[in-house]
Amino acid sequence: RQSAAPFVPSGAGIDELREAASGCRGCSLYRDATQTVFGQGSPRARLMMIGEQPGDREDRQGAPFVGPAGRLLNRALEEAGLPRDSVYLTNAVKHFKFERVHGKQRIHKKPSRTEVVACWPWLAAELGVVRPEFAVCLGATAAQALLGTSFRVTAHRGELLDGPRYADDADPLVVVATVHPSSVLRAPDPEAREDAYRRLVADLGVAASAMA
Ligand code: URA
Repeated sequence: RQSAAPFVPSGAGIDELREAASGCRGCSLYRDATQTVFGQGSPRARLMMIGEQPGDREDRQGAPFVGPAGRLLNRALEEAGLPRDSVYLTNAVKHFKFERVHGKQRIHKKPSRTEVVACWPWLAAELGVVRPEFAVCLGATAAQALLGTSFRVTAHRGELLDGPRYADDADPLVVVATVHPSSVLRAPDPEAREDAYRRLVADLGVAASAMA
């Protein structure tokens, strides 16, 4: 069974986890990707933002949300009163999955459930070290990694939800799910895009208010 678990050192801090993740072969995605893209940000952040998987730019640069979706996310975080340097940013899957078209261009491919499950030990380890009070899931892949496969973002976006419990703590992680910033960029026209962007900022605002 594919799993990152054998690669995750126990009792490690965030830097040690990042180092170990760079050698992960827990599923086959490492073969075609340039590098592991681990989470980034303060290990003391109260809020963890969770995306799907690195994109083309993230794969080249080795950092999450540095491409077009990341620029949009930075703007939305700022507007919601959650500056990027106050959060810990990561992805449900740590390697870029893609398909080559015309030989050169690399097009994002949605990770399979098997890959999400295989990669979960990294996200679990990040949650265990950072121990955020809040998590924002950007899109269905992240939301379902945390809340189960029957979770529907469209039905429950922008709600304060009970996420997984920390083993030794009565308080569960509070989770807000919203759409992925890439879906805002894919909106069919400027008006739809503005509307989708406003709704994303509003969902982030739910987390910001709960944290205040
Ligand atoms: N999309 C994601 O889900 N994560 C990234 O890091 C970049 C784009």
